[in-house]
Amino acid sequence: MLFSEKILFWYANNKRDLPWRSTHNPYNIWLSEIMLQQTRVAQGIPYYLKFVEHFPTVYDLASASEEKVLKLWQGLGYYSRARNLHATAKNIVTNYNGQFPNTYKELLKLKGVGDYTASAIASISFKEPEPVVDGNVYRVLSRYFGIAIPINSTEGIKYFKKIAYKVMSAIDIRDYNQGIMEFGAIQCTPKSPNCNNCPLNDSCVALKDNMVVELPIKVKKVKVKNRYFNYVVVVDVDEHTLIQQRTGKGIWQNLFEFPLIETTKEIDIEELKEHIGDIVSLDSVSNMYQYNENKIVHKLSHQHLHTKFWFVKTKSKLKNGVPLKSLSKYPVPVLIADVIKTFKNLYF
Ligand code: ADE
Repeated sequence: MLFSEKILFWYANNKRDLPWRSTHNPYNIWLSEIMLQQTRVAQGIPYYLKFVEHFPTVYDLASASEEKVLKLWQGLGYYSRARNLHATAKNIVTNYNGQFPNTYKELLKLKGVGDYTASAIASISFKEPEPVVDGNVYRVLSRYFGIAIPINSTEGIKYFKKIAYKVMSAIDIRDYNQGIMEFGAIQCTPKSPNCNNCPLNDSCVALKDNMVVELPIKVKKVKVKNRYFNYVVVVDVDEHTLIQQRTGKGIWQNLFEFPLIETTKEIDIEELKEHIGDIVSLDSVSNMYQYNENKIVHKLSHQHLHTKFWFVKTKSKLKNGVPLKSLSKYPVPVLIADVIKTFKNLYF
């Protein structure tokens, strides 16, 4: 049996019943594939269901407010994906008459749609013979064919795409692409794959050469940057607080947060006092303390955010305060949402 036939056979017997598998509508496929780049299938399902409930069509998504889109995306991370999703929905409505393009080449022109997503939509929705290459596919191909080229090198990306074309099933591309991803997610897992009970174990090069653990190979690239965040949670006599929207490039664009003092190293309360005047007049402060006992280290792919939340109580009313109670309405980074949840015990 060919490699692709084995994958198709395995998929026919093992595929999961997932909400986006009951349709080939490109809007649904696009939504699910963008989300699945961000999270595992199990965590992605509730997000997908929420999105299709609030935005059943591309028109609904296009006409939604950015705030609502970001709110529903909250927790998935990498918020530029949500903004691209929104921008692309508007683009499809305005410039494509509400119809997704039906070829890999045209799909690639959409914002936020890269090689992987274009192949996924073109193959699953339109049966175009384009192989998907995601993390699962890299792993399966590198192990099965014993390929030790780093998957995140320029050479590797090219080579794996070439192999992917060679071994795909063009006739059954819809099931083949989903099958190889599913096979990677369930059977040929990153850690402790189930090789004893694998339909490909009689011809897997990595298994024969005892290389399953080593493959695929990835080169280390990123250097992690440490940042020191001090969020100032001002609370006035009416239990109002201050929030602001992040602008500019970088993390969490357009999400809301408490006033932020970023420093080059960890600071204590005395050093905080030197900065606090930018946010609230020191004269009006009645009490000030660090809310989280130990700093929280929030890990993003390239940055570690060493974060302290400082409570600053004032004797007067804030000018532009919002009720603490209303905070859950705003799209905020998970780091902040987690802390807001704990305010409930204090205030309401
Ligand atoms: N991971 C991402 N997209 C997938 C799909 N369509 N099927 C299985 N796994 C996936």
